[in-house]
Amino acid sequence: MERPSRLFDSLVLGGQPLPNRIVLPPLTRSRATNDGIPTQLMEEYYRQRAGAGLVISEGVVIAPQATAYARVPGLYSAEQVAAWRPVVAAAKRHGAAVYAQLWHVGRQSHSTVQPDGLPPKAPSAIPITGYQYRAPSGRIPYEVPRELTTAEITDIVQAYGTAARNAVRAGFDGVELHAANGYLIDQFLNDASNQRTDHYGGSYENRMRFLLEVITEVARSLPAERIGVRLSPSSDWMDARDTDKRTLYSTAVRTLNELGLAYLHLVEPEIAGSTTVARPEDSIPTAELAALFDGVVIVTGGHDQTSAERLLADGTADLVGFGRLFIANPDLPQRFRTGAALEPLRPAGIYGGGHEGYTDYPSLAISGL
Ligand code: PHB
Repeated sequence: MERPSRLFDSLVLGGQPLPNRIVLPPLTRSRATNDGIPTQLMEEYYRQRAGAGLVISEGVVIAPQATAYARVPGLYSAEQVAAWRPVVAAAKRHGAAVYAQLWHVGRQSHSTVQPDGLPPKAPSAIPITGYQYRAPSGRIPYEVPRELTTAEITDIVQAYGTAARNAVRAGFDGVELHAANGYLIDQFLNDASNQRTDHYGGSYENRMRFLLEVITEVARSLPAERIGVRLSPSSDWMDARDTDKRTLYSTAVRTLNELGLAYLHLVEPEIAGSTTVARPEDSIPTAELAALFDGVVIVTGGHDQTSAERLLADGTADLVGFGRLFIANPDLPQRFRTGAALEPLRPAGIYGGGHEGYTDYPSLAISGL
């Protein structure tokens, strides 16, 4: 007998009923304007993928300094807020909850995209080694970042708060804080990128201070039950290294568990940024961390329908994200429901460009399958 599907069960997230357990996870697609203003093309992209239960936006930068790449959208100007409204409305048309992922890349930025043309700022003046920056001209080395002053850290915390307020104004139901993949919050968490001697470095409590200050500030605009946090506990992608990731991230999850958040979003160990790699030897099983969190857990990274059903059935996850499958299959929930074949992902147009590789993947109704 066929097992019942759990992917199409409802779930209440932050007081809001979701139509299913399928998540469009955050995916950088670089289709905003050069000023970080969302476009009509983005509206079309999110409209096509509105069948998810939860739509998490691509990373949205909280300030001009927070970006790593051209054409990433922002939530720091009135024009951006106004242009997000139709995009969010399109994503909501089938009843999905729609969250904005708030993003600051810290040392993953580059002087060529910084407003002052100088190297980016980070917890410590330690560059990323072993990885290269994705410049329009090709891959180039990362620079030595400038160390943030405590006053600058306070400014960034406030910018997260402003971006969250702007997210609410734009119609988002909640926000996700990007604390994964070696970006700014993760740079504070990991000791290889945080060698500060003030109250933002050293102990776990100190390294978690920035994240907790951001949550407190964002919670002035949104209830905690509408704030999610994304972590990539086993990844050392972009040189996110720590002497003891198991203690670091289990401490972080236990602390987050006390806050009544919307959800914890865990990236699977075999994901390195946007690609699948061999599972690191010292990886922390996702189920181990998920068990420390009493609220909603989202798991994302390399899953298909079968493995997602397994995660839901064994209680590891409450919701499952499908990034690459959703890029190539805008109507992914419908395909899962009907057992229809999946379209393969094409490499062209993943980052930047226009319609091609972005909004030209067929939906069943259009393709007549
Ligand atoms: C990417 O642009 O490849 C990217 C962005 C954000 C992530 C991971 C990958 O968290």
